[in-house]
Order: sequence, then C-alpha cells, then structure tokens
Amino acid sequence: MKSISHYQVFRESTTNVAQVDSWKELSAAVSEGYSKVIWVIDSKIRRHIPFNLTDRVIELDGGDEGKSLEVFYWLVGQFSNQELDRKGHVVTIGGGSVSDLAGFAASVYLRGVSFSIVPSTLLSLIDASIGGKNGINFKQFKNQLGTIYQPKSIYYFPEILNQLPPEEMADGFAEIIKYGLILDAGLFQELSNQNLHEIMIDKASLQKIIYRCIIHKSTIVKEDPFEENKRRILNFGHTVGHAIESIYGLSHGKSVGLGMLFAAKMSESYYHVNLGFTGQVQKVLGLYKLPTGLESFSAMAIYEKIKADKKREGDAIFFILLKELGKASIEKMSLDKLKEYLIKAEQEKWMLS
Ligand SMILES: NC(=O)c1ccc[n+]([C@@H]2O[C@H](COP(=O)([O-])OP(=O)(O)OC[C@H]3O[C@@H](n4cnc5c(N)ncnc54)[C@H](O)[C@@H]3O)[C@@H](O)[C@H]2O)c1
Repeated sequence: MKSISHYQVFRESTTNVAQVDSWKELSAAVSEGYSKVIWVIDSKIRRHIPFNLTDRVIELDGGDEGKSLEVFYWLVGQFSNQELDRKGHVVTIGGGSVSDLAGFAASVYLRGVSFSIVPSTLLSLIDASIGGKNGINFKQFKNQLGTIYQPKSIYYFPEILNQLPPEEMADGFAEIIKYGLILDAGLFQELSNQNLHEIMIDKASLQKIIYRCIIHKSTIVKEDPFEENKRRILNFGHTVGHAIESIYGLSHGKSVGLGMLFAAKMSESYYHVNLGFTGQVQKVLGLYKLPTGLESFSAMAIYEKIKADKKREGDAIFFILLKELGKASIEKMSLDKLKEYLIKAEQEKWMLS
C-alpha cells in the first residue's frame, strides 16, 4: 500500500458544566451568540417553564419509547420547519431519553448544529448529559443508532430537578451507586449510611454528591472521549442491564441496578474471591428503592440481547468487573464465556433477592 497523505484529525471539544439559578439566567446564557434557540423539552415539565410566546418550543414525551426512528424523523422535520440554521442552538430540557434523541438529531442535522442540555432528571444530570453519547433504539435494541457529539454546555438548574418524583430520583441513584462501586469506595460507604428519603431532604448532601459524580464522569470522558479504554468502566452493570431493560421493560436505572448485582456476583466468581460484594450491592440498592432481585432470570434471553450489543467486538465483549470496592477492571472475554456465567446465574439463582 502506498500512503498518499497522513494527518491528525482534531478530536478535542470541550463542554462547560455550569449551575444556573433562574430562568432568566438560563435563557440569557443559551441565547448569547446564536441566530436562534430551539427548545426541545419533555412535555411533563412544560408547565414549570415560563416561556415567552415568541420562544420556539418543541415538546416530546419523555421515556424510552420516544427514542425511535419515527420520532427522530419528526424532530428533524421540526428543525427544518423552524428554519434552524448552522448558527442556531438546540437546547433540550429533559431526562436522558429526550437529550439522547435531541442530541442525535442535532448532531446530524446540517452535519451538526450546536446543542446544550438542561438535565431534568438526576440520572441525566450526573450521567446521560455528560460525555456526548446520544442515540435512539432500533429494531428493539437499545441505542443502536447514534453518534458521539459533545454538547456545548450542560446547565444544572436545581429548580427543575426539584419537580422530580422519588421513583425517578431512585433511578439516578443507580448510576451514583455505580460511581461508588467502580471509582469511589468512600462514596459507596457514604451511600450505605443513608437512604433515598434522608438524602432527598438533605439538599446540601445531595448537591455534594451530584458535584462529585459530575467530576467523576467528566474526568473519565476527558481522558477517553471515544471509549477506547478507561471510559469502558462506565458500562459497569450496563451490558446485562440493557438486556434486562429490553426484556423486562424496567426503567434504565432499575435495570442497571440489577445489571450491577449480576456483575458484582460474577466478579466474585470470576476472580475466585468472596468479598461480600453481592450482599453490599443488594443492601445499597434497597436503601435507594431500587430492585434487589429478579424473580425470573432467563440466561438465554439475556444472552441473545447481548449478542446484539454494539460494544461487542466479533465474538468477544468487554465486560466490567470489580477487583475490589471502588476499583473496576475491564475484562475482554468471549461471548461463550459470558454465556457460561449467565447460565450459572440462572442455575444458582444469583439474581433472587
Ligand atoms: N447518553 C448517555 O450517556 C446515557 C447514559 C445513561 C442513560 N442514558 C439514557 O437515558 C434514558 C434514561 O434517562 P432518565 O432516567 O433521565 O429517563 P427519562 O428521560 O426517560 O425520564 C424518566 C421519566 O421522568 C419524566 N421526567 C423527566 N424530567 C422530569 C421532571 N423534572 N419532573 C417530573 N418528571 C420528569 C419523563 O417524562 C419520564 O417519564 C435512557 O433512554 C437511557 O438509555 C443515556
């Protein structure tokens, strides 16, 4: 092969994460320097936002069902009807489902228009909004179509989060528990000493946890934006979690919680140690009102879903395990090996609470 040219592709882009304390402040921040702002918002929070009559607002139903090719097609049609140009700014206010869809649409519309996120769920604030991953579901598989496209800014607006019901807060805690398990044993211990009810009252403590998690996620994304190495650890609990989400129709957070339970148990079996992970994970999931088990765990149904996972590389998959509390390890293993563990989990009833 004769090389004709070789050049470095620019792969850096930065995202600013900032706190805003009023609608006026947010509105001014997202408008500055843009030809127009198009708001893409979760319809459930519409009534909490004092839009002007002249604001361009597109409402979407939150939830995973909305992350479809049909809604994507409709949304880019709305961008076109609103004459969104390359100097425009798409700003989404919603949870991970709305920002995944709107981020994907913004990343491909006119080959990419500026995009920012105002997370309206805890899960989105500490996880989904950070890192530029977006996407929609396709053929019953999670996030099969998508891009990595960094938002310009992420705005933490505490007032919007205050509307969130406890059930949705619990979903966010699944990802917070994940940060504890893979990176921050101290955080996991703190979580073990409180519960969802107490932490929702103690706003100062919640805010500290939020900041800590934002820093964990953004540090990893900065180091490995395209998930070529360390970013993989953030998938802890997600391979089996996504399969559970598709099969059992549980929310993302609840499914990831169960995926983490499987991965904790598998860690002990894989490394032949008994570190008591499973019991600890089960206890903390319970404290944050997340499921601590699954009545019927079908190894083969889960395996079939994992075979279609986009993170699969040929016949192998990167599976994230725990070497110790707060220390994740990336293991490349064959799908057959993983299947053995899934079958073991079904036979030995790992997932019963
Ligand atoms: N891109 C990423 O890196 C990433 C990471 C994790 C999860 N995700 C995706 O995020 C989605 C889950 O995100 P989520 O948990 O934020 O769920 P979501 O967006 O589905 O929202 C959950 C529910 O809460 C409602 N809601 C949202 N904000 C509200 C508010 N302030 N008050 C009252 N109700 C509100 C929504 O309408 C919905 O019914 C999944 O689709 C998942 O695949 C993406």
